[in-house]
Amino acid sequence: MKTEHFDLKGAESLPKPINGRPPILNAAGSGLGREFATRNADFLFTSAPDLARTKDEIVALKEQARGKGREVEVLTFSHVVCRPTEKEAQDYVDYFTGDNADWDAVDNLMNLQISHAQSFPHDLLMQMRQLFAMGHGGVPLIGTPEQVADKICDLHAAGLGGTTLSFVDYTKEFPYFRDNVLPILEARGIRQPD
Ligand SMILES: Cc1cc2nc3c(=O)[nH]c(=O)nc-3n(C[C@H](O)[C@H](O)[C@H](O)COP(=O)(O)O)c2cc1C
Repeated sequence: MKTEHFDLKGAESLPKPINGRPPILNAAGSGLGREFATRNADFLFTSAPDLARTKDEIVALKEQARGKGREVEVLTFSHVVCRPTEKEAQDYVDYFTGDNADWDAVDNLMNLQISHAQSFPHDLLMQMRQLFAMGHGGVPLIGTPEQVADKICDLHAAGLGGTTLSFVDYTKEFPYFRDNVLPILEARGIRQPD
């Protein structure tokens, strides 16, 4: 794969280069940040603590970009706890976001968000303490493969173009997600098989 900006031998890339350059991704929560992103980026990365609100925001952001003759896709970030039963998934969430969480660290992180950033809507931040302990305020994808797939479909239906996925123990947990959630997403038509 050879473009003006890079020459990769034997490599494949997803997403594909856009106009011969790597895709540009910009995270933004504030009006100013989003104005910058819709002017310059191909992908806008945002928190999505309230999907109904996110849905309206995505419509507005895409309109904002089109007003500048551009297209932007909106992405978010999620944290996955996927297990064969809902109880197993919830028990594990309770385990690592209960007494075992470092609540001082969580509160420090949240206070920094309030004082220095608008990456998360401030009116929702205080309800997000457990989500911060779980995955830095990302969308919770908790439950059986079917439930996790349902939630990813909700993100899609809200207009999101994609999400990052984090896990507590990626190497242990990702294979279960790959083998059990991805086929459901493919069957529902929101993921192309490899
Ligand atoms: C979902 C999300 C992820 C972010 N990730 C990073 C990051 O990895 N590193 C970083 O320096 N800033 C990160 N930021 C902060 C951005 O740099 C910041 O949002 C950007 O400067 C625009 O500011 P605004 O969110 O107040 O509009 C992130 C923000 C969001 C919303």
